[in-house]
Amino acid sequence: MREAVSRVVSDPTAVVAGLGEPRRAEVRRLYSAADLTILNVIWGPRMTIMPHNHLMWAVIGIYTGREANIFRRRLTDEPGGRVEAAGAKSLGERDAEPLGRDIIHSVTNPLSRRTGAIRVYGGDFFAVFRSDWDPETLLERTYDMEKNLRLFEDANQANANQNLSLVSAYPELPICRQGIRRAGVTC
Ligand SMILES: [Fe+2]
Repeated sequence: MREAVSRVVSDPTAVVAGLGEPRRAEVRRLYSAADLTILNVIWGPRMTIMPHNHLMWAVIGIYTGREANIFRRRLTDEPGGRVEAAGAKSLGERDAEPLGRDIIHSVTNPLSRRTGAIRVYGGDFFAVFRSDWDPETLLERTYDMEKNLRLFEDANQANANQNLSLVSAYPELPICRQGIRRAGVTC
């Protein structure tokens, strides 16, 4: 599967041609079955998602941008399932990375633009009961899918607010990023 995903993201232009430009942070379901889920995940600028597990194998393939993965491990002698950092991996365009079934990771988009990734999971990503970890205390809790999906909408809202404040702070500037097009300006 890593090889298959690697082949797909080796041609980012073709991926964007097929899926469209990443215009908003979102989790788009491309394929969903009991034994396989394929997602197009678009991270908002500088967006971070809290530590979580999948309880199934996964492959991440980046077709635009970059994501910083921090891997965690459980502290065995502590109650509450607390985790500590155990490693990190920065993934860029054309990278395809396999993740083991028991991996725990958090993901940050370190860029001021969106990052797009194809994610393949060896199960029904939306049906498995699993955990995430409070980003402040690093204690384990039940994974809340709706809360996690809301983070993507929050990122879109934050991005829209930032663009509005840029426009009002610098009305003379042509702002041609993040989808803002000003009348009379060629970007
Ligand atoms: Fe994940």
